[in-house]
Amino acid sequence: MLYYYILIINLTLLVNSYIFKYETSCNSFEFKDLENLIGSLHRYALDNGQLIVRDIGLTIGQRKLLKRYQNIEIISAKYKQKENIPMINVKHEFFPINETLFSRYNNGKYNYIDSIRKRFYLAIVIPFIQSQFNKLIDQLNFEKIYSPCRNQSNSIDLILYHNEKISSILDNKTRQIHYQNKCFKNIRIFAADLSENENSYPIGSAIMWKKLLINEQFSRTSLRYYGYTHFFLMEPDTRPIRSYWLDIIVEEIINGHDRESYISTQWWMIGSLYRGFQSLGQNYLHINGNALYHLSLSFILFLQYVSYEYPYDSKQSSGYDLDLFLYLFKHIDKGKKFWHKFQFSDFIQNCWHTGCNEMNEEFLYNNPNTYLIHGNKIQEIYFKSLPINLSMMKILIYILFLLIIVKRFKYICWNFFIHEIVYYLLFLNKQK
Ligand SMILES: *[C@@H]1O[C@H](CO)[C@@H](O)[C@H](O)[C@H]1NC(C)=O
Ligand SMILES: *[C@@H]1O[C@H](CO)[C@@H](O)[C@H](O)[C@H]1NC(C)=O
Ligand SMILES: *[C@@H]1O[C@H](CO)[C@@H](O)[C@H](O)[C@H]1NC(C)=O
Repeated sequence: MLYYYILIINLTLLVNSYIFKYETSCNSFEFKDLENLIGSLHRYALDNGQLIVRDIGLTIGQRKLLKRYQNIEIISAKYKQKENIPMINVKHEFFPINETLFSRYNNGKYNYIDSIRKRFYLAIVIPFIQSQFNKLIDQLNFEKIYSPCRNQSNSIDLILYHNEKISSILDNKTRQIHYQNKCFKNIRIFAADLSENENSYPIGSAIMWKKLLINEQFSRTSLRYYGYTHFFLMEPDTRPIRSYWLDIIVEEIINGHDRESYISTQWWMIGSLYRGFQSLGQNYLHINGNALYHLSLSFILFLQYVSYEYPYDSKQSSGYDLDLFLYLFKHIDKGKKFWHKFQFSDFIQNCWHTGCNEMNEEFLYNNPNTYLIHGNKIQEIYFKSLPINLSMMKILIYILFLLIIVKRFKYICWNFFIHEIVYYLLFLNKQK
C-alpha cells in the first residue's frame, strides 16, 4: 500500500508547527485539481503548510480566487526560486496515514474542494427584466428604510443583472440609476444577453441563474470570474423587513468569525423552504432560489449532473431550484452524499404567492431571525384577482352599455318608427 504514497513529512514536524512549503504548477484546465490539493492542505496542515503555485496559464478569475485562499503564493512561470522547494504534482492531494502526511494521486475525485479556507467576497445579485424595472427601483429604495449594514465593507458588491444586451435600452436605463450605498464596494451591471428563445419565463430566469454559476474560465457573467466566493440571489420581489439584513447574510458565511479571517464553507446553498400558505405537497421542502450560495467548484460540478437530467429548457425542468431537490430525491446515492450541502435557515422566508402576514407587527415579534421576505402578497393578490375583477367589471360595463344602447336604440327606433308611420299616414292622407 505504501507504494502509492510518497512520504511528505512526519507528525513531529506537524505538531511543532514547522512551516513546510511545496511548489506546484497549474494551468487553467487543472484548476479543479489545484483546488482539491489546496483543500487537502487546509484540511490536514492548515497552520504550517504553504503552497506556491507556479502560474503556467491560469485565467484572470482563477488568479483572483487564489488570492483569497489561505497560505497560497502565486509565482510566474519564469520565476526562479532561491531556495530548494520540493515539488508536488497538481493532481495529487495530501492525506494522513497514522498521523503522518503523505501525498497521493487524487484519482479524479475532488473530495477536498469545500475544505479550502478563504476570505469571503460576496455579491448581492438582483436579476430583473424590463417589466420589473420599477420593482427594482422600489427595492433599492427599500434600502433607505432598512439600511443593509452597520459598517462599510470592502468585500461586498451589488450586481444589477438584466436579461438584455450591453448598450440596450434597459442596460442604459440601469446605468443611469447611479445607486450608491456605503454597504457595497462596487456596483456592477451584468447583461445576460439572452436569445429570443431563452427570453421566456421560467427558462429565462433559470438560464440567468446558471450563467452566474458557470466555471470561471468560460464567461464574463460567471461570478467566479470576478473572484466572488459567495452570492445572494435577491429577485426584485425579495425585500428586507428589518435593518442590517446584509450583516445577517454575512453572518451566515462567517459564522461568528472575524470578517477578514479565512473560513471554509461546507454548504452550497442556505435559504428558506416554502413558508407561504399554498399547498405544494412534498415540494414545500425545496429551498427557494432566493438564497445564499457558495460558489464552490464542487457545487458547479454537481449542477452539471442536475442539468443533464433536467435540462432547464425542457419539460422535465420544474424551475432550477425545485430541480435540485427532485434530483436528490430521485438519486438516493447522491442524496446521501449531498443533502447536507443544502441547509434551511430563516434569515429569509419564502412566502411565494401568499405573503407571510409579514405586514403584521406580530410577525416581526414571532420571527426574530427573519430579515428578508420573498414573494409579495399584495402584488400577487392584485395580479391574481385582476382577471376576476376585470371580467366582473367587463360584464357590468357590458350590461350598462347594453342597457344604455338598447334604451337609446329603442328610443331612436321607436321615434323613427312613429315618425315613419306618421309620415306614411300623412303621405297616405295626401295621396287620398
Ligand atoms: C498504521 O499503524 C498501525 C499500528 O501501528 C500499523 O499496523 C499499520 O500498518 C500502519 N499503517 C500504515 C499504512 O503504515
Ligand atoms: C462595526 O464597527 C464597530 C466599530 O468599529 C465595531 O465595534 C462593530 O463590531 C462593527 N460591526 C460589525 C457588524 O462589523
Ligand atoms: C446606450 O448608450 C450608448 C452609449 O451612450 C449608445 O451608444 C447606445 O446607442 C445606447 N443604446 C440605446 C438603445 O439607446
